[in-house]
Amino acid sequence: MTDATRTAQLIRARAGEEPVRLGLILGSGLGHLAHAVEGVAIPYGELPGFPDARVSGHNPNLHIGMLEGVRVAVFGAREHYYENGNASAMRPALEVLRELGAVELILTNAAGSLRPDIRPGDLMLLSDHINQSGLNPLIGEKTDARFVPMTEAHSPRLRAALQAAAEAEGIALPEGVYAWYSGPSFETPAEIRMIRLLGGDAVGMSTVPEVILARFLGLEVAAISTVTNMAAGLSDEKISHEHTKAMAPLGAAKLERILRRYLRALG
Ligand code: HPA
Repeated sequence: MTDATRTAQLIRARAGEEPVRLGLILGSGLGHLAHAVEGVAIPYGELPGFPDARVSGHNPNLHIGMLEGVRVAVFGAREHYYENGNASAMRPALEVLRELGAVELILTNAAGSLRPDIRPGDLMLLSDHINQSGLNPLIGEKTDARFVPMTEAHSPRLRAALQAAAEAEGIALPEGVYAWYSGPSFETPAEIRMIRLLGGDAVGMSTVPEVILARFLGLEVAAISTVTNMAAGLSDEKISHEHTKAMAPLGAAKLERILRRYLRALG
């Protein structure tokens, strides 16, 4: 039996046997949605392989249960590469998600925008990403499954469904390319000018390793950024973690409406 199978068994014993349809990883400022899940919340600390609760943020709980009529697994926090230098930190948790029966994963994050038409408080659906970190969560994986195609990593089907949900809610959901920088320091203005030349529309410190892992595990993936600031050098505003945390809730309410609408359409 694998570690993921054992952890999934432990979860089923607490949350019930019914398979999970979808996983949702919540970024900064989106914690509220986790608490809306009707079911159980299990602290990461009680789940072997899950990120270390001390470093991974404010709500390190796995919430399993119903949300808008769909059985979901909501991850209240993630471990970032910059916390421990481990690009595959989320692999065990995503393996467990698949064991629980999930077929799709929706990721959310806070990001800086490089596009004048995408402002703080706006959302951006990832059409694709640039792995600007040079890291990969599959380094060390020994099977040929490591050669994951990334051509349609951000699922066209899932993106269309999220766009339909956004439209039904009357919320603008521009699409763009997200560039992953490892952090934890923010980017320099020169780096942001480079990313712009390379075709990036937003920049952030998460999500990309999880997209790679999810595709490796055969999950269908989509990701949405909440824009908390204009990227370095693009506005007079000082960029800081405090600012990110303060601004994330601006987009969170819209993101929650889109996700709820999407789930209702599924359920
Ligand atoms: N850069 C990187 N990560 C971020 C930013 C940013 O400007 N804003 C929120 N997360």
